[in-house]
Parts: sequence; structure tokens; C-alpha cells
Amino acid sequence: MKIALLGYGKMGKIIEKIATDRKHEIVLKIDFDNLHELTAENLKQADVAIEFTTPSSVISNINVCFDAGVPVVVGTTGWYDQLDEIKQQCEDGNHTLLYATNFSVGVNIFFHVNKILAKLMNNYPYYEVQVEEIHHTQKLDSPSGTAITIAEGIIENLDAKKNWANVLVADGKDSDDNVGNSALLIESYRMDSVPGTHTVIYDSEVDSIEFKHTAHNRNGFALGAVLAAEWLNDNTGFHSINDMFNFDI
Ligand SMILES: NC(=O)c1ccc[n+]([C@@H]2O[C@H](COP(=O)([O-])OP(=O)(O)OC[C@H]3O[C@@H](n4cnc5c(N)ncnc54)[C@H](O)[C@@H]3O)[C@@H](O)[C@H]2O)c1
Repeated sequence: MKIALLGYGKMGKIIEKIATDRKHEIVLKIDFDNLHELTAENLKQADVAIEFTTPSSVISNINVCFDAGVPVVVGTTGWYDQLDEIKQQCEDGNHTLLYATNFSVGVNIFFHVNKILAKLMNNYPYYEVQVEEIHHTQKLDSPSGTAITIAEGIIENLDAKKNWANVLVADGKDSDDNVGNSALLIESYRMDSVPGTHTVIYDSEVDSIEFKHTAHNRNGFALGAVLAAEWLNDNTGFHSINDMFNFDI
């Protein structure tokens, strides 16, 4: 496939390597220093675009892909308050988009088991649940998109939780966990060089159950994004990564 890379930062560079190893061709690379090259005309050379930029540029980049009629895989996080609007636009214009808060295969297995665990824990209301996420200090959004997906998976399945609240825990200071009983607390920590660690903790007076995913590097996210680009070759319309994995247990 001919791939356009929108964003050539940490993720864009790894995606380039994995895509070329899988015999794809990178026909366009857009970053901050050549933004003028991001035109619908230039994008039309590509079969698919892969977008890993910033929360402030992702929406206009999606729109250029729509204008060019090029399917787009969106990895950028921090724009989901506009998700419904983009979905509508995508469907109205017969465009193709796949987004994921996290493209790693392991994390998507984690998302699925997280839901099953939350459903099970309805029977044990004396456990209080909380989510923790740790990322590198350059991360712009908080909580992480992955933590939001984990929280939504719990809220959909655990009757006691109705919404989530986030606390960014600075410099090891204790979080303010005064978020109300029906809110699920997400604690965000920022530490040097951590690609992404997410833990769901069910805590009671007698014990704790911790369910944890640790990314060792960014390769898993990049591979998932390339697999999604390949999947869009045979699938059109608006999709989340759940449609690609389609777990049935
Ligand atoms: N969904 C996932 O699995 C996943 C995994 C890792 C990172 N992310 C997200 O992907 C995004 C990028 O992550 P990163 O680690 O590569 O960040 P990064 O800061 O290393 O790279 C972002 C790049 O985008 C460039 N950029 C800025 N504005 C642009 C524009 N208008 N058009 C094109 N490029 C532009 C910047 O110059 C930079 O090089 C972040 O939102 C991050 O949270 C998602």
C-alpha cells in the first residue's frame, strides 16, 4: 500500500520502519516543517493516511483526508470531545476513518478483559475501583485516551460507577480522591521515558486485585496502526479498533 504519514515524530518514525518492513511504500511525510505540503492533491497519491500528530492539529488533518477521499487511521489522542461530530461528518460524506485510543494488541486484549472483570465485580461491592496511568512527561493530554477507554469499559459494566474524574498527581503528591462515590477516579502520573502503563485496582480492606498493562516500547502501537491501515483496504466507513479485533468471548 502507498501510505501518507501525517506526523513524523516518535510514532511516525517507528510506523515508517514497520510499514516499510511490511513492504508498504511511504509516499508522503508531513511534519511541522513542511505543513504546506499537506494538500488534498498530494494526499491523493496515497491509499491510506496514518495520523499521529497533536490534539490541536488532528481535526484539520482528518478534514484534509476527507477532502482527498483518502481513508485515515487516527492515532492522535485528546480530541474525543469531537468524536460524534467527526463520526457524523465521516458517515455523511461516505469517508473512511479508524481511530483507537491505543493500537497495541495487548492493550486491546486488556480492554476486553477489563470489561469482563468489571461485570464480575458487581457481585463484590466492598471492592473500590480506581484506574492509574503513567506516561512520559511530554504527553500533552491527561488522562490518557487509553485510561479513558478503560474507565468507560468499567462504567459500562460496573453498576456503582456512573462517570469518571481525573487527578493529575504532581511530584508524588497525594491525589485528591474526593470525587464522590459514583465517580471512578483516574490518577495520572507523568514520569520520564515511560511509554505507557495502565493499572486497574480493586481494593478492599482485606486485599487488592491489580490488573496491569505495561508497554515496553512504542513498537506495539506502531504495528497496530499499520495493521489498521491494511484492514481499511477491505473495510470502509467509520470504525473504532474494536471492529478490527472483534473479540467474541
Ligand atoms: N493511539 C495510540 O496507540 C497512540 C500511541 C502512542 C501515541 N499516541 C498519540 O499520538 C500522538 C503523537 O504521539 P508522538 O509520540 O508521535 O508525538 P510526537 O510529539 O513525538 O510527534 C508528533 C509530531 O507531529 C508533528 N506535528 C505537529 N503539528 C502537525 C501538523 N499539523 N501536521 C503534521 N504534523 C504535525 C510534530 O512536529 C511532531 O513531530 C499523541 O497524541 C499521542 O498521545 C497514540
